[in-house]
Amino acid sequence: MAEPLIDLQSALEEIDKVSELSALQNIKAKYLGKQGVVTRLFKQLSTIPQEEKKAFGQMVNNLKKQLESKIAEKRSEIERRMREEKEQKNRFDITLPGAIRDMGAYHIVTQVMEEVQEFWLSMGFEIATGPEVEEVYYNFEALNTPEWHPARDMHDTFYFNSNRLLRTHTSPIQIRVMEKRNPPLAIFAPGKCYRKDTPDTTHLPMFHQFEVLYVDRHVSVGHLKGVLETFVKRIFGKDRKIRLRPSFFPFTEPSFEVDVSCGICGGAGCRSCGGTGWLEILGSGIVHPNVFRSVGYDPEEWSGFALGMGVERVVMLKHDIADIRDLLRNDKRFLKKFMGVNI
Ligand code: DAH
Repeated sequence: MAEPLIDLQSALEEIDKVSELSALQNIKAKYLGKQGVVTRLFKQLSTIPQEEKKAFGQMVNNLKKQLESKIAEKRSEIERRMREEKEQKNRFDITLPGAIRDMGAYHIVTQVMEEVQEFWLSMGFEIATGPEVEEVYYNFEALNTPEWHPARDMHDTFYFNSNRLLRTHTSPIQIRVMEKRNPPLAIFAPGKCYRKDTPDTTHLPMFHQFEVLYVDRHVSVGHLKGVLETFVKRIFGKDRKIRLRPSFFPFTEPSFEVDVSCGICGGAGCRSCGGTGWLEILGSGIVHPNVFRSVGYDPEEWSGFALGMGVERVVMLKHDIADIRDLLRNDKRFLKKFMGVNI
C-alpha cells in the first residue's frame, strides 16, 4: 500500500514559520533526510503498479523539488536576517570624531627648572641633590643659623621630632656636598622645599628652589655678579639688567637680593613691578666663614659664592600668573597654556 501523499501546502507553511537554522535543519531531515517522508515515498516506488509508476515518480520528484527550493529560500532568508542583526549590533558611526587623546607635557615648573639646570650645566656646574627630610643641623646649624637666630622664624616648617624636619630651603645641600668633597667645587642643586605657610596668592607650603654653590680660591662679588648677569640674560632675555641689593642671610656675608629689570616696562616702573622697575628673583652672597668652618674648610684659604632661587616665583613673573595656587590646581585649561612653553 502506498503511503498517503503528504500535504504539500502544510509542509510549505511549516517551513515558512521557521525562524532558526536549527529548526529548518530538523524540517529538512523530516522530509528529505534518510528516514524522511519524501525518501520513504521514493522507496515505495517499486511497490507501485507499473502503469502508475511514472505519475507517482513525477509527483514525488516534484514534491522533493518544491520542498528543496522552499527550504533553500528559507535558509537564505534566515541567513540574511542574521547578517543584518549582526551588522546592526556592531554598527558604528564612521562620521563620529575619533577619541581625542590629550598630549602629555611637563609642568611649567619642571620646564623652567630644566631650562635653568641646562644653563648651570653649560657653565660647568654639577648637579647635586639632598634629602627633603632633613636634619636640623644641615637645615640651620651648619648654615650659621643657631637655635636662637631670628632668621629661623621665617623658616618655620614641619618637624618630625626635635631633630628631623622638612627642609625649608635647598641650602643644606651645600653642607652635605662640602662635607664629602674637597674644594674647588661648583654645584647646582634643585629640589622641593617646605614651609609652614598657609596657601595664598604668593605662598605654598611646598615649592621648588635651586641652589648654586661655587668654592675656589679668591672668589669675589665680581664673580658672583658676572655669573648672575649671564644667567639672567640667558633665562630672561638679553635686554634684561640685574641689580644687587644689600640684604642679610646667616650663611653669606655680604648678602644680596638680586633683582632683574622689569620685562614689561623695561625698568621705567609699571603695575607688574609695583612701580619700581625691578623684580626680586633670588638671594645670594659670599659664603660666610662659619659655614666653611662647619665643614672643615679653612676660610683663609677658600672662598665662594652661593645663591638660591624660588622657581615658582620666577615662573609667575615670567608668565604673568597672579595666583601661585594655580600651579597646583591641576586645571587642564591652565596647564595647557604652558605646553611646550619655555621661559
Ligand atoms: N636659602 C635662602 C632662602 O631660602 C636663599 C638663599 C639666599 C640661598 C642666599 C643662598 C644664598 O645660597 O646665598 O631664603
